[in-house]
Amino acid sequence: MPQDPSDAAAPLTAVDRTPVHRLPRLAALLGMQQDALWIKRDDLTGLAGGGNKARKLVPLLAAARAAGADTLVTGGGAQSNHARMTAAAAAIHGMGSHLVLNRPPVPDQGGNLLLDGLFGAGVTWTQALPFADLQTAIEECCEKLRAGGRKPYSIPVGGSSVLGASAYLDVAQEIGEQLDPGLVVVATGSGGTHAGLAAGFGDHARVLGVDVGALPDVATVVRDLSTAVAAHAGREAPRGSVSLDRARIGDGYGLPTEAGHEALLAAARCDGILLDPVYTAKAMAGLFAARRDGRIEASTRVLFLHTGGLPGLFAHRYADWAGSLL
Ligand SMILES: Cc1ncc(COP(=O)(O)O)c(C=O)c1O
Repeated sequence: MPQDPSDAAAPLTAVDRTPVHRLPRLAALLGMQQDALWIKRDDLTGLAGGGNKARKLVPLLAAARAAGADTLVTGGGAQSNHARMTAAAAAIHGMGSHLVLNRPPVPDQGGNLLLDGLFGAGVTWTQALPFADLQTAIEECCEKLRAGGRKPYSIPVGGSSVLGASAYLDVAQEIGEQLDPGLVVVATGSGGTHAGLAAGFGDHARVLGVDVGALPDVATVVRDLSTAVAAHAGREAPRGSVSLDRARIGDGYGLPTEAGHEALLAAARCDGILLDPVYTAKAMAGLFAARRDGRIEASTRVLFLHTGGLPGLFAHRYADWAGSLL
C-alpha cells in the first residue's frame, strides 16, 4: 500500500538512542580516574546539526500535527539552536516556520541564521526582549498568521513547556540503561533539559546545571518545571534542591568566556569533541571548575550531556573569538 507522505515524515524527526562513551584524556587532564568521565552525545540527535532540542521537538511536533497546524512558530536569540531545529522539523513535516528572534547587539550572520534561511523560515526581529517577553511576541506573531488564514502552532522559547521538557524525563531512563552516573553535567538555558532530567532521576543532586544566563532566575524555573514534569508522568517531585552553577555566565547570555575558551580547546584537543561558545563550552567550564574545587571527586562517575550547538561556532559574531582560539 502506498505510504501517506505525512506519516512517512514522522520518523524523520524521531530521535534514536544516542551514544555514551568515555573521555579518557580529558579525565586525565582533570586528574580523574580513567573511567570516571563520560559523555552522552545528544549533539548527534539529527535535525541539521543535532542537539537537545530535537528531543523536545518529538512530542511538540506530535501535538502540532494533532492540532492540524501548518506553521510552527517559536523564538529565541539570533543564534537560537532551538529555532533552527524547529525550522528543520517544519520542513521535514511539510509545514512552514516563523521565528521571532532577538536582534543581536552586533551585526550577525552565518551559523544558525544561515540554516534558518535555508529551511525557509520567516523571521520577525525584536529588540533585545527578555526571554520571558519573547513569548508574548511569539503569540502576537501567531495572531497575525491566523488572521492571514494560517494554522500556527506556538512552541515556547527553548521548547521548555511541560510537554517539551518531558522528553528529558525519558532521557534520564535512557542514561540509566547505558551507565549509572553519579552526576550529570548539563548547560541550563531555558531550563527544560535540566528539569526533565531531574524529574527523571527523581533527585536534583544527580544533575548539575551550568547556567548560561538566558533567564534571570532559572533555578526557580527548573524547580517548578521539574515538579510539573514529574506530576505529568504521575511521579513525585524530585528530591532535594536544584543544583546550579551560576558562576560561568561571564558578561551575559551569548557572550563567550575565557573559561569556556579553555574548555572548548581542551575538549577538542584531548578527545576530539566540538563544543559551542554559548552553551556547551560554558557547561564544560562548569565541570572543570567543579572538579578543580573538589565538588566532583576523582572517582565520581560523571556524565557530560553534550546538548549540541555546533552551528553557533560558525556565527559571524564569534569569528574573532574563534580565531583567537588558534
Ligand atoms: C546547544 C544547547 N545546549 C543547551 C541548551 C539549554 O537547554 P534548555 O533550554 O533546555 O535549558 C540549549 C538551548 O537552547 C542549546 O541550544
